[in-house]
Amino acid sequence: LNANVKLYEAFKEDFFIGAAVNPITLEGQRDLLKHHFNSLTAENEMKFISLHPTEEEYTFDHADRLISFAKENGMGVRGHTLVWHNQTSEWIFENQDGNTVDRETLMARMKSHIETVMTRYKGNIYAWDVVNEAISDKSGELLRPSKWLEIAGEDFISKAFEYAHVADPNALLFYNDYNESDPEKREKIFTLVKSLKDKGVPIHGIGLQAHWNLESPSLDLIRQAIERYASLDMKLHITELDISVFKHDDQRTDLKEPTAEMMESQAERYGEIFRLFKEYREYITSVTLWGAADDYTWLNNFPVRGRKNWPFPFDAEHKPKQSYWELVNVANS
Ligand code: G3I
Repeated sequence: LNANVKLYEAFKEDFFIGAAVNPITLEGQRDLLKHHFNSLTAENEMKFISLHPTEEEYTFDHADRLISFAKENGMGVRGHTLVWHNQTSEWIFENQDGNTVDRETLMARMKSHIETVMTRYKGNIYAWDVVNEAISDKSGELLRPSKWLEIAGEDFISKAFEYAHVADPNALLFYNDYNESDPEKREKIFTLVKSLKDKGVPIHGIGLQAHWNLESPSLDLIRQAIERYASLDMKLHITELDISVFKHDDQRTDLKEPTAEMMESQAERYGEIFRLFKEYREYITSVTLWGAADDYTWLNNFPVRGRKNWPFPFDAEHKPKQSYWELVNVANS
């Protein structure tokens, strides 16, 4: 076996292979990124609060740098994200006097943000997570309570897609969410996206974040989610994949490195998951890891403080793990 096998080359008949990056990993993981990935997502730098801290001021430096790096290396970029309840500047919801804005003002500001950002990167971003995580995790509640919902009402979602489509008619527009394979949440996502589609809203795909671990969600539930979403005739992107080496209820914090057994199980898990993705490659056109190698992940200290999760196919030195070899096997099978 040859460790030079590029992941994106290996899967070129199937889907893009992406990584989330931030300004630090874009430097530190440069060679690894260039070698194995043909799609990038900004982990934080294209979120509202990063790009648009005050009404008059846009800060594009980090996002611009990511776009140039991608262009120089022939990579695509997924845009993340335009409308979200989190990491959004408070000013958008407030008047100068500090009171809550009215619906018209909020929608005008949202439109202006979407237009400015998407126009700047037109032609350089193949897909946008237009609306992120708008579905509630609470049983019996469809939409997540948020300022967007409270001020504008539920059609902030369809408006966001409409503005996005006008700004860049060629970009694929996605609804993106987590716990996407949980049956109850899955049905809510299905209901929302179906209603958008039925109304003729320009939406092209569903993003499955895929923050998973060794055993959950089960492969069966993942398959059911893929089938259900695909039945809407949507493109599916796996947008934020990471696979912790821990099982769901394993709270250990004493491991300095993953055990051999964990590495083995993680490789099997990567294998079964990518085999499944390949089965559905007619729908799944992009698979992005929420990072690239174990030296950096948002999962350091989460969900359990004081421990790492080693979720990627490359170790902290950027060397291939068993999970990488298993991916190469799956790609060649
Ligand atoms: O930038 C500030 C820095 O100035 C400050 O000193 C530091 C102190 O805590 O915080 C820095 O901001 C952090 C930011 O990441 C940039 O590093 C925030 O505290 C931290 O909350 C934020 O976390 C990000 C998280 O989204 C916020 O919700 C993670 O990096 C990022 O990986 C994560 O990504 C999300 C996706 O966008 C949506 N799906 C879930 C996924 C994982 O939570």
